[in-house]
Amino acid sequence: MKSSFFPLIILTAIIFLRRLNPTEAATCHPDDEAGLLAFKSGITRDPSGILTTWKKGTPCCSWNGITCLTGDRVTAISVGGQADVAGSFLSGTLSPSLSKLKHLDGIYFTDLKNITGPFPQFLFQLPQLKYVYIEHNRLSGPLPTNIGVLNQLEAFSLEGNRFTGPIPSSISNLTRLSQLNLGNNLLTGTIPLGIANLKLISSLNFGGNRLSGTIPDIFKSMTNLRFLTLSRNQFSGNLPPSIESLAPILRFLEVGQNNLSGTIPSYLSKFKALDTLDLSRNRYSGIVPKSFANLTKIFNLDLSHNLLTDPFPVLYVKGIESLDLSYNRFHLNTIPKWVTSSPIIFSLKLAKCGIKMSLDDWNPAETYYYDFIDLSENEISGSPARFLNETKYLVEFKAAGNKLRFDMGKLTFAKTLETLDLSRNLVFGKVPATVAGLQKLNLSQNHLCGKLPATKFPASAFAGNDCLCGAPLSPCKV
Ligand SMILES: *[C@@H]1O[C@H](CO)[C@@H](O)[C@H](O)[C@H]1NC(C)=O
Ligand SMILES: *[C@@H]1O[C@H](CO)[C@@H](O)[C@H](O)[C@H]1NC(C)=O
Ligand SMILES: *[C@@H]1O[C@H](CO)[C@@H](O)[C@H](O)[C@H]1NC(C)=O
Ligand SMILES: *[C@@H]1O[C@H](CO)[C@@H](O)[C@H](O)[C@H]1NC(C)=O
Ligand SMILES: *[C@@H]1O[C@H](CO)[C@@H](O)[C@H](O)[C@H]1NC(C)=O
Ligand SMILES: *[C@@H]1O[C@H](CO)[C@@H](O)[C@H](O)[C@H]1NC(C)=O
Repeated sequence: MKSSFFPLIILTAIIFLRRLNPTEAATCHPDDEAGLLAFKSGITRDPSGILTTWKKGTPCCSWNGITCLTGDRVTAISVGGQADVAGSFLSGTLSPSLSKLKHLDGIYFTDLKNITGPFPQFLFQLPQLKYVYIEHNRLSGPLPTNIGVLNQLEAFSLEGNRFTGPIPSSISNLTRLSQLNLGNNLLTGTIPLGIANLKLISSLNFGGNRLSGTIPDIFKSMTNLRFLTLSRNQFSGNLPPSIESLAPILRFLEVGQNNLSGTIPSYLSKFKALDTLDLSRNRYSGIVPKSFANLTKIFNLDLSHNLLTDPFPVLYVKGIESLDLSYNRFHLNTIPKWVTSSPIIFSLKLAKCGIKMSLDDWNPAETYYYDFIDLSENEISGSPARFLNETKYLVEFKAAGNKLRFDMGKLTFAKTLETLDLSRNLVFGKVPATVAGLQKLNLSQNHLCGKLPATKFPASAFAGNDCLCGAPLSPCKV
């Protein structure tokens, strides 16, 4: 589940807009200039020229990423790489001389990818600092035990580094925080109980670490919490009772990929603002509470890879965007009506859900937004041809292990399709040349015949058919 940190995006946007405001001061304070130039000299590689404008003797308030809101003093450094561009990075370390920038209230070092070194101690020498985002770099080592001294911070993100060891208990002193994001590091140990002191917190992310133990019962005091991500750790037990107190406002609850067990708490159905619920890849058992019918605002629901059993409740959502119920113990028989009728669905995953219908009888209200479909390991018959022909932006269609029976030679699909898995079905006819444009293909164990078109796929993608021939299988007989 992606894109959960809207507050960060909004804040970044505000900072960006503030930067568009031209800064009056021509020159900057000598301490600030010295600190920034020392930072630059700690950078050993800057292939995309992020710091090119940082030149001694030129007004540092107008350097790329520098904001001066109070006269000649630098108040924010915002140096970011482009997330998906490999050549957009900085190598080197964060110079301790940044402590000279005494008026800094915001530090944004994001997606620089190759900044190394330990936790930056200079943060302790910047009394006005309120916003720290050091994300997607390679900082490592432990978090300092006295981290709670930074109690003026309002937003703190170290997402996507390689910090190890425990979350220091002094973090409970960061009581002004509205955002805390330690996601995607290598942190171990348990969540400190003192986190309960963070009463202003609206977004809390510890996802993608190696945290363990039970999720502590700390949420009662967090009356502003809207985003909670604890996914991809080793938490066990069930959700703690105090989560229920978040019902009025919580929008994102992500606890997938842990070791949570028990039954899904029925109080979750009281979460009137819940947009995203991810309980996937845990060991939840029993039924999904009937009261989930009341989750009318839910857009993204992922309950996949648990041990959940029938009956699955009917939901009265206006439109689900993404649904994954795969690999439980459900016997849904058909694709539920409330799914088929969604006007906005882009991802539908119902693998091994005991579906026995014919795709010829499936008439989704809207096919336009579909990106991902996984109907593998069911007993689905008929043909996906009509549906595939209607989608415009489909990226993935997986339906391995069903009873689909149709002429592959006549299949048309969106140009955007990357993955097509139809293995272990009853598909007949020839393999069309259009499959060559896919990135992943599996047509093994069907009844296909004839000469294969030239593709990059291995023999296992075509194995077990009736009479396919040509590379990568054996040559066709003349
Ligand atoms: C990343 O930084 C390390 C250490 O500074 C350096 O050895 C490595 O070459 C850098 N990687 C790239 C792609 O520049
Ligand atoms: C929090 O701060 C107070 C006052 O500065 C201090 O006495 C206390 O030890 C700190 N708590 C932790 C857990 O560090
Ligand atoms: C998962 O939790 C159970 C207890 O509920 C425990 O016995 C088991 O060792 C845990 N597994 C992992 C991989 O942590
Ligand atoms: C939905 O909520 C209403 C009021 O909050 C409650 O009376 C009703 O029983 C709930 N529906 C289900 C199916 O639990
Ligand atoms: C695919 O759709 C087009 C119109 O959008 C139609 O002309 C064509 O016959 C369809 N092909 C198949 C195989 O259904
Ligand atoms: C295709 O699927 C079969 C089983 O369904 C599997 O054994 C084979 O490795 C797969 N091949 C590819 C290329 O994914």
